[in-house]
Amino acid sequence: MKAVHVLNGPNLNLLGTREPETYGHATLADIEAGLAARCKPHGLILYFRQSNHEGDLVTWVQDAGRASEPVILNAGAYSHTSIALHDAIKAVKADVIEVHLSNIHARESFRHRSLISPVARGVILGFGALSYDLALDALLAQAEAAGKPGPA
Ligand code: DQA
Repeated sequence: MKAVHVLNGPNLNLLGTREPETYGHATLADIEAGLAARCKPHGLILYFRQSNHEGDLVTWVQDAGRASEPVILNAGAYSHTSIALHDAIKAVKADVIEVHLSNIHARESFRHRSLISPVARGVILGFGALSYDLALDALLAQAEAAGKPGPA
């Protein structure tokens, strides 16, 4: 694993001031800085991006998939609606860990279904900004296990 793509969807640029009781006080820049510091000792390149536009996320998933580089994806509200993102992940066989700051299953019923989950490698949710760290931990552990003999 040489690089990791962390892709963030709509309204996540507002983290820090957006419903802090639900999403916490960390800004997206705080999350990026924390992940960058953790990627550095592993020599991992971090591509950290945010867009409010569905098509940008689709393009970035395609790019990562084509490069066979893993993705940590918080698609925000598009998680619940985007067949296009579902299809992109499936099409390029992107190794995607879906993350959410909040526990979407403990919230409104329209958030209970994710169209990303069925095509994701795994899902981590409900731990606030820590969800991103746990996703990176999972990718690092997975890469380490793949490099060792025995069950991955
Ligand atoms: C979110 C959960 C989504 O339901 C919501 O639309 C978001 C953020 C989360 O990280 O908890 O924008 O993905």
